[in-house]
Amino acid sequence: MTAQRLDGKACAAEVEADLTLRVAALKKSGIEPHLAVIIVGDDPASHVYVNSKVKTCERLGIRSTHIALPASTEEAVLRDHIATMNHQADLHGILIQSPLPSHMDEEALTDLIHPSKDVDGFHPQNLGRLVQGRTDGMLPCTPSGVMRMLDWAGLELTGKRAVVLGRSRIVGMPAALLLAAKGADATVTVAHSRTQDLQALAAQADVIVAAVGRPEMVKADWVKPGAVVVDVGINRVDDPTRDRGWRLAGDVSPEVEDVAGWLSPVPGGVGPMTIAMLMENTVRAAEHRRSEQGE
Ligand code: GUN
Repeated sequence: MTAQRLDGKACAAEVEADLTLRVAALKKSGIEPHLAVIIVGDDPASHVYVNSKVKTCERLGIRSTHIALPASTEEAVLRDHIATMNHQADLHGILIQSPLPSHMDEEALTDLIHPSKDVDGFHPQNLGRLVQGRTDGMLPCTPSGVMRMLDWAGLELTGKRAVVLGRSRIVGMPAALLLAAKGADATVTVAHSRTQDLQALAAQADVIVAAVGRPEMVKADWVKPGAVVVDVGINRVDDPTRDRGWRLAGDVSPEVEDVAGWLSPVPGGVGPMTIAMLMENTVRAAEHRRSEQGE
């Protein structure tokens, strides 16, 4: 069997086409959606992601403000930026690229972003809504992108056994909540570094969401034939055969393609969906602003 491709790039293109229309409608009513992206430090992969977010904004007609700060920046500087942006009426979304340097308290800083501008969906109020089963608010971009892609591929989750590998605040936990939420209705197990017999657990799953950040950890014999496998990993691994000396690897081994029914590629799977959902959250924040203004 060769798995069908969960084509995040194609799905993201459809999301973008819809967003282009919504951006045009917003602009007609005098609102230009506007996203601020703050990055601290010089992690090359993070800079690539941020540049990609800024470029996507340009493509969709969304205004972006890109703030790059040195790794030595004091946390108070970031707090000041957030406080200013929270009050900036013409700014609809604030994103702080993770990870931050170790001297900063990432969660405490996320708490300072006004929930209505929290386009990452990481604020306790937005995550709390998700725990309550309210899936109509600002949802974390990677997990909501995974759900959108599964829906787009026409994959039914009701009653299916889903195993989420990883329990992070950014991906694993919110992905588990979305899979278990009313409407998706999967039966979800969250596995993590202390889980015993992970392979046997994964092998029972109808759906595997791999979000552990370990290159090619999920092997073919971890996967039930025909299962849906979503690869959230983006790992740089050394590869002397490449000019740049590295290649991108997901959390899923390439040979899983011979066993799975569906598999998301890396790159071109979850990555483009994450950005598309960020754009959608920004547009939605701007639309809310418009309805608040009674237009
Ligand atoms: N770093 C890796 N993924 C993400 C994400 O979805 N949002 C932010 N802000 N940082 C990230």
